[in-house]
Amino acid sequence: MIGIYDSGVGGLSVWKELKAQMPEKDYLYLADNAHCPYGDKPIDYIIERADKVSAYLMSQGAKMVVVACNTATAAAINYLREKYPIPFVGMEPAVKPAANISRTGVVGVLATANTFKGRLYRDTVMKYCSNIKVIEVIGKGLVEAVESGNSAKELLEKYISEFKAANADVLVLGCTHFPFLTEQIVKLAPKGMTIINPAPAVAKQSKLIASKIIFNGGKNMFYSTADTEPIERIAKAICPTLGTDSFETINI
Ligand code: DGL
Repeated sequence: MIGIYDSGVGGLSVWKELKAQMPEKDYLYLADNAHCPYGDKPIDYIIERADKVSAYLMSQGAKMVVVACNTATAAAINYLREKYPIPFVGMEPAVKPAANISRTGVVGVLATANTFKGRLYRDTVMKYCSNIKVIEVIGKGLVEAVESGNSAKELLEKYISEFKAANADVLVLGCTHFPFLTEQIVKLAPKGMTIINPAPAVAKQSKLIASKIIFNGGKNMFYSTADTEPIERIAKAICPTLGTDSFETINI
């Protein structure tokens, strides 16, 4: 099956796209809720978690792993690719398409502190945004809001006002939790602002790899290292036919 991993429910925004593009595959999703959020934890800690989770997914039969977390991708994707023989697909910071479509020459990125610190993000910005102003805002508190289902309105008002003030006309969602806030973001964003969710592009990339190595099955299973309530709430909102027996707490 295809293993998918995030610190929590955020990676479900990627699972949704994977399922849309490859409904016939088997998926095993692992939410590391016991250690969420990853956003400002030490890098070594995130690598250790990514290692444990990946080894576990492989022990359950994953033949490829989608690291559906920008923060874990930034910290650990190179480590995982070097250590294990299976393919790992990571999240791409979508600043290149953002730079291409911006008319004001100002692009906003909303992500975690650790994603902004990552080499991949910095290199991508350097390569594609030399003539573009990139406004980086750390979405502190947003991951927790998505996990709990609480309102993120006040935080979003504050963060989006920074993009507005800078005249950004494109916003990159640099954390897989944030697509679940799209409706609220659209309400607060200036008219005509384009919002980029990198999940469809990551799913497309995953499809290329999966078509060669993953057999069809169509099963979906969800594990959490803590309470399964958050993944159950969001996964069932995406796919109402999922049964309660698709969700399990594991201890790793
Ligand atoms: N979904 C994760 C990401 O894409 C959230 C990180 C966190 O746990 O803070 O970055």
